[in-house]
Amino acid sequence: MTLPRIAVLASGRGSNLQAILDAIAQGRLDARLVGVFSDRLQAGALMRVPPELRWSARPSSFESRQAYERALGDALAASGADWIVCAGYMRILGEALIARFAGRMLNIHPSLLPRHRGLHTHAAALAAGDAEHGCSVHFVIPELDAGSLIAQARLPVEAGDTPETLASRVLALEHRLLPAVLRLAVAGRLSERDGTTYVDGQPRFTPLTLDSLERRMPHPEATP
Ligand code: GRF
Repeated sequence: MTLPRIAVLASGRGSNLQAILDAIAQGRLDARLVGVFSDRLQAGALMRVPPELRWSARPSSFESRQAYERALGDALAASGADWIVCAGYMRILGEALIARFAGRMLNIHPSLLPRHRGLHTHAAALAAGDAEHGCSVHFVIPELDAGSLIAQARLPVEAGDTPETLASRVLALEHRLLPAVLRLAVAGRLSERDGTTYVDGQPRFTPLTLDSLERRMPHPEATP
């Protein structure tokens, strides 16, 4: 059997990549990681996989952003990835690259979208006095953090929370949410058309919850 192929775009430490690797290793995700692609030569994420799975290039060494993204797109296409996951990839992707992989590119974002797009989401949630915060997985479109939502995980903001405490609690949820969504994706149950997410061929007008995903696929760290 040929396993569905996942590629990950990451700029940083790669803890979400690790969550994917762990889910594969523990038999919770029937897929194969075919590459980690980074805009930072020293990204910690690259070190989590063997050298033959690493691709990195400094965008400033290309003559234009388009040229960099053509090279990245060619490398992604060569990997044969069925699904491309942005997991802490800190650059805005251009239209041409996204169009090449339309409907197959996902992003994890540390907020309950549409609240708090962009950076510094934990500070923004605190500044807004939000009672709840969390993370979202969505399809990638050219507008930043604006593609159709697939799933969200939420938690209460506690008195005394700081951006750091929130970041660490949200990150733990990200590590559960992303593999759970990928499990649906690689099972062929997830698609996107005209800005709408479809699960099992049915349009979703509200994002799936982590609870509903884990009812289908218990996570070892999930509390009963
Ligand atoms: C995560 O919080 C992700 O949602 C955000 O950047 C962080 C990446 O963390 N966009 P890691 O590199 O996966 O550890």
